[in-house]
Amino acid sequence: MEIITAELLVFVVVPFLLNCGNGIEALSTHSINYRATTKQPYRTSYHFQPQENWMNVDSSNPFLLSFDMFFRMIIEHGCLRFADPNGPMYYKGVYHLFYQHNPEAATFGDRIVWGHSVSYDLINWIHLNNAIEPSGPYDINSCWSGSATIIPGKEQPMILYTGIDYKKHQVQNLAVPRNLSDTFLREWVKHSKNPVMTPPSGVEVDNFRDPSTAWKGKDGKWRVVVGAQKGDEGKAILHQSEDFVNWTVDPNPFYASQNTGVCECPDFFPVYMNGSTNGVDTSVQNPSVRHVLKISYLRKQHDYYFLGKYASDQENFIPDVRFTGTSSDLRYDYGKFYASKSFFDYAKNRRILWGWVNESDSTQDDMDKGWAGLQSIPRQVWLDKSGKRLVQWPLEEVEQLRGKHIRITGENLVHGSHLEVSGITASQADVEVLFELPELEKAEFLDPNGVDPQLLCSQEYESRSGIIGPFGLLALASKDLKEHTAVFFTIYRAPNRYVCLMCSDQSRSSLRHDLDKTTYGTIFDLDPNLKKISLRSLIDHSIIESFGDEGRVCITSRVYPSLAIDKDAHLCVFNYGSQSVLISKLNAWSMKQAEIGYEGNISYT
Ligand code: FRU
Repeated sequence: MEIITAELLVFVVVPFLLNCGNGIEALSTHSINYRATTKQPYRTSYHFQPQENWMNVDSSNPFLLSFDMFFRMIIEHGCLRFADPNGPMYYKGVYHLFYQHNPEAATFGDRIVWGHSVSYDLINWIHLNNAIEPSGPYDINSCWSGSATIIPGKEQPMILYTGIDYKKHQVQNLAVPRNLSDTFLREWVKHSKNPVMTPPSGVEVDNFRDPSTAWKGKDGKWRVVVGAQKGDEGKAILHQSEDFVNWTVDPNPFYASQNTGVCECPDFFPVYMNGSTNGVDTSVQNPSVRHVLKISYLRKQHDYYFLGKYASDQENFIPDVRFTGTSSDLRYDYGKFYASKSFFDYAKNRRILWGWVNESDSTQDDMDKGWAGLQSIPRQVWLDKSGKRLVQWPLEEVEQLRGKHIRITGENLVHGSHLEVSGITASQADVEVLFELPELEKAEFLDPNGVDPQLLCSQEYESRSGIIGPFGLLALASKDLKEHTAVFFTIYRAPNRYVCLMCSDQSRSSLRHDLDKTTYGTIFDLDPNLKKISLRSLIDHSIIESFGDEGRVCITSRVYPSLAIDKDAHLCVFNYGSQSVLISKLNAWSMKQAEIGYEGNISYT
């Protein structure tokens, strides 16, 4: 239980209240209030979140109780919920991240704005005033998701976003920075011709949203796709423009899927085919690239990606494999990760992906915490050399937060082993393990057709037995292991190949019952020549982001332990399979806190 001290009151509470209320002017451009020292147990330390709230006041003390109530009042009326990453971009030395933000509550609302934060390294962030807020008839009921495009040559950033207009129709609007010489591009001006796109025929007026980053065709015209729906059909609708202001709609959908409902947040970009980890500008079209279309299906609450061909002559996208609605569809992440967006980072020649990671506790918990939602660690994304799936890996910049280091090599994990990785802060850690596998022929047989990986994950872990696996990590574990999240693999012999089941089992993640503890999992093909499999997990108090098989498969979990908090959290490696697996190498680091603070007065008008 945290106690509010006089210092906290003067240096943290008062500025916080001022900032969440009507506020004071920024002290100076670089006067940044970094996070408070007092900490909620589920607040993350190096994942991007909007500014801090405080709770856990000792309610047995009447003096502090009044502050508890005061906080509660401020939190429920003054602070935040945030969601989709919007318009990420790199511009003249600064990374920008905008995000869907409800400044009025920790829940969804009817006056959503674009929050705005900037960074020099994508890890430490400065929160700025909101960039885009409802103001005109074309966005008076909210400013929803959208994307940024930088017009090359002119070096002009453009933002297209969805406005909920005065009739509650969804329209697309344009905003540009007021002053290009302001390093942080703090102010954004809406175009006088807004809205620049209105719902075309064949699209529901309340399901036409989330314009993508634009790309330039060979004819010099800009193109964007906007997510849409008509009945059960989901669509991505192509628009073209010469000047970014006057857009014409293509009557044929760029992409359509039956029985899916709305396509949210479409993201369309090229990737190199040769296994290069480099990224490509969104407008590149040449024989060395393939294209990726990502769709966030609202009904599924998952981000699916399709590898395929951009048929520019027909102005559409032809996926290699169509959406099936089954577990065989490719997803960025098989856990909690939605409404993601990527951008090309010119500075480092890479494509970076952000995703919104929502809470797994109740709305009431969110209101009590005073915040909801965070962003994944930004991931570099590229096409695997097999050409069959994307690879995602935490940005190298995250490694600057690595502190105390523990290394284990050559440790054999026999059936039933638990090996504690001690000496690091297990609640705030980065851990990478390379497992050496036994002879694969010994693996249990499984025909993956028709298998529900999530169900299999629960069964695998429940039984605590198998042949090759389950083995992996127990993260955010209490000392007695009553609480833990098991992130693990099991290897199977399938017809003509070997497959791997990767799971994040949250069923024992907390003694609390009022949580969504869905077990996540997926099955993927294993390269039998490698005889090794890797797992990296970024653990940050209430989030575990796991990257299996060098980033080919990712699972993100949100968990809220009641025992395994801060110093009481433990990290173990385990093997419940009858075959031994070897820890070829394990590196684990305590992670430092990222510096995430705010600049100036956040406007809540
Ligand atoms: C995705 C989404 C978008 C919409 C935004 C509203 O999470 O539903 O389609 O623009 O959130 O906040």
